[in-house]
Amino acid sequence: MKSIASRSKADPAGQPQLATSHSSLYVDPSFSAALITWQKQHGRHGLPWQQSHEAYRVWLSEIMLQQTQVTAVIPYYKRFLETFPTVFDLAAAPAGQVMEHWAGLGYYTRARNLHHCAKQVVDNYQGKFPADPALLQELPGIGRSTAAAITAFSYGTVAAILDGNVKRVFARVFGIDGYPGTKPVEANMWLRAQALLPALDIGAYTQGLMDLGATVCTRSNPKCTLCPFQTRCVAYTQGRTAELPVRKPKKAQKEKQAIMLLVQDGAEVLLERRPPTGIWGGLLSLPELAGMQEYSGEDDAFSVDAQMATVRERASRFGDIASIQTLPVFAHVFTHFKLHILPVHVQLKKRHLQVAEGELGWHPLSEAMQLGLPAPIKTLLSNLGTQSQLPFTD
Ligand code: ADE
Ligand code: SF4
Repeated sequence: MKSIASRSKADPAGQPQLATSHSSLYVDPSFSAALITWQKQHGRHGLPWQQSHEAYRVWLSEIMLQQTQVTAVIPYYKRFLETFPTVFDLAAAPAGQVMEHWAGLGYYTRARNLHHCAKQVVDNYQGKFPADPALLQELPGIGRSTAAAITAFSYGTVAAILDGNVKRVFARVFGIDGYPGTKPVEANMWLRAQALLPALDIGAYTQGLMDLGATVCTRSNPKCTLCPFQTRCVAYTQGRTAELPVRKPKKAQKEKQAIMLLVQDGAEVLLERRPPTGIWGGLLSLPELAGMQEYSGEDDAFSVDAQMATVRERASRFGDIASIQTLPVFAHVFTHFKLHILPVHVQLKKRHLQVAEGELGWHPLSEAMQLGLPAPIKTLLSNLGTQSQLPFTD
């Protein structure tokens, strides 16, 4: 057996120490011992891919298990091996036949990479998968964790895995407070994963991490009373199993802004049919000025004064302007963003006979409610109806 993992140095007191960018952390050597003992007694031993150390079979199972549950993988794994019993059979198969055997498992890039990988192992390694995870990681579809799992199970190479389940176990046992999807937290976890590695029994240890995450330290309602780490687990002892691992922070909601023209000529209002795609697609609405912009969130987010010349220019295409008045800004929440709307009320004293632009038309205010306008625009227009006397300046 060879060890490729960079092991932590012992400090003068004989305790292994691991320096990270965040802290120096003590790595408990009994972690692996406790996990290996637990795996042998309570872990899974009857899964089809555990019945052989053949690298081809281990590799095939690990690729299938990357994004798919054990129960879904089992029949696919068996059928694959019946049709392609060796890496040479798989490499020589037509791509279509490989895809047929994958159909239903999902994430089909995996199947294409699988086929490419089989060809490379045949062409470059005489059909023998390398035992060094660094070499294995160069092959299509094999990341750092998968490379380590394959070499640990088939050759006994001492190398660290770190998948979603392992991250969850580490976050809880060690009380790691950052979101594991970020680079620094992940880097910290990789260092731990390497420092915790046992010198012996890497297969049972690696399977133990997977089994504990899948059967005991589950995402919700972990079975802590059955866990070998119960007494030392930070999340358990502090009652924080529901908070760890830290969930992905929600993205700040996108906010946009738009100026909309409420051009009124007596009892009629100018409406524009919106483009078929985008918000309020195909609906009649108020003409929008110069498209949407990112919302700055500042006091004068709309820079009203700077925009007034544009408003005036646009409105004057429809007639001679009697008055221009900004109405209160209101916001409307869509699925993917919040839109702040500044309505500008323009009253005309003399309408131009033709409205030059294609999707524009005059509509009686009294009929606007029947036109299927967007709800906030309806509200705006109905408020206008009740405010019989709007300020009128010239
Ligand atoms: N998930 C990924 N690898 C696995 C394995 N070897 N056994 C069970 N589940 C797994
Ligand atoms: Fe997970 Fe509970 Fe075990 Fe901690 S004690 S590792 S939370 S199962």
